[in-house]
Amino acid sequence: MPLGERSYDVHVGTFASDEVAERLDEALGEPSGVAVLVDEHVAAVSPRLSPLCAALQARLPRVQVLRLPRGESAKNLAAVERTCQWLAEQGYDRRSVIVGVGGGAATDHAGFAAAVYLRGIDFALCPTTLLAAVDASVGGKTGVDIAAGKNLVGAFHQPRVVVADLGFLATLPAREIAAGLAEVVKAGLIGDAELFANVESSAQAVLGPAELPAVVAAAVRVKIEVVTEDERESGRRAVLNFGHTLGHAIEAASGYELLHGEAVSLGMVAALALGEARGVTEPGLAARTRALLAKLCLPVDVQTRVSPEIVDRIEVDKKRRSDKVRFVFVPRPGAAALHDIPLLELKQQLLAARPAT
Ligand SMILES: NC(=O)c1ccc[n+]([C@@H]2O[C@H](COP(=O)([O-])OP(=O)(O)OC[C@H]3O[C@@H](n4cnc5c(N)ncnc54)[C@H](O)[C@@H]3O)[C@@H](O)[C@H]2O)c1
Repeated sequence: MPLGERSYDVHVGTFASDEVAERLDEALGEPSGVAVLVDEHVAAVSPRLSPLCAALQARLPRVQVLRLPRGESAKNLAAVERTCQWLAEQGYDRRSVIVGVGGGAATDHAGFAAAVYLRGIDFALCPTTLLAAVDASVGGKTGVDIAAGKNLVGAFHQPRVVVADLGFLATLPAREIAAGLAEVVKAGLIGDAELFANVESSAQAVLGPAELPAVVAAAVRVKIEVVTEDERESGRRAVLNFGHTLGHAIEAASGYELLHGEAVSLGMVAALALGEARGVTEPGLAARTRALLAKLCLPVDVQTRVSPEIVDRIEVDKKRRSDKVRFVFVPRPGAAALHDIPLLELKQQLLAARPAT
């Protein structure tokens, strides 16, 4: 990730524990201590965690492990306060580092704790879900949820290094893998036509260990390119929200029964159909993408799953003062375009453009 003095490497592959520890050690300099914050479920089910901690202990000083609540339940201020309290009790100082191990919830928690503990310490991430590997662990957005909404409290804080050991995915349920693949498809659509075509031509075998590292690396590259251009989301970074405007509304309306990637799958199909209706998206791309997502076992039935009530939940971005929605269109695979559309117009057109099943 080329960000001047805050540049860092993102390693993607299937690594031995010592290789992961070596890459972390290389990037972290000479810390006074290492706090490994790990999703408690990953700690319970992954055979990779103990060897990783042992390998870190062999290389780095004062390595201790703190288990975080599972998944999204780690993403709140109370949980971050508990982490900071523990860090203080254990005597971690400003030269200490955090290593976050888990899905996007754990990496967001770890990054945010690193951003605020002692006004900011260094951190590194080891994503253990596909979604965290291709998206959440890269780019420096950290944060937690509050009652008013998801991700409304956070900080930009870039890690020192990201090591995505895809060996962790062995214990990840197929449904979570598919949800991560939705973000891979998104990356192809907004920034890498070849990635999109590759996933399309090999969707059946895409989970094979031979193919996955290249696919993940390509998706990460798209995110890096976008973030490098617009680290703090003042413009182009918004293209990463393709499929998310409606996706967030669908996810919330499901009471978070749907996984983020599943909701984004529906959101992407709807966004492409809207793009075709407005003449922005090349004809046929909505059907092509729909077929691909269905093959990846993701929900695509926009006609029945996107109701007027759900569309009504779309809000203007809480972080921008505007009565328009900055909506992301994909004119053709590998390209993205931002259009500001009045909220009411967007809602009406999204419903009208829903493809029939
Ligand atoms: N910071 C960013 O730029 C960014 C980008 C995208 C998403 N996110 C955030 O990421 C979160 C979603 O990430 P996620 O999909 O990884 O969800 P998650 O972290 O909640 O993990 C999903 C589930 O998988 C389990 N799990 C994780 N790794 C496992 C493994 N190797 N084996 C078995 N189980 C495992 C977790 O315990 C959890 O139950 C959301 O909070 C979202 O807001 C952040």
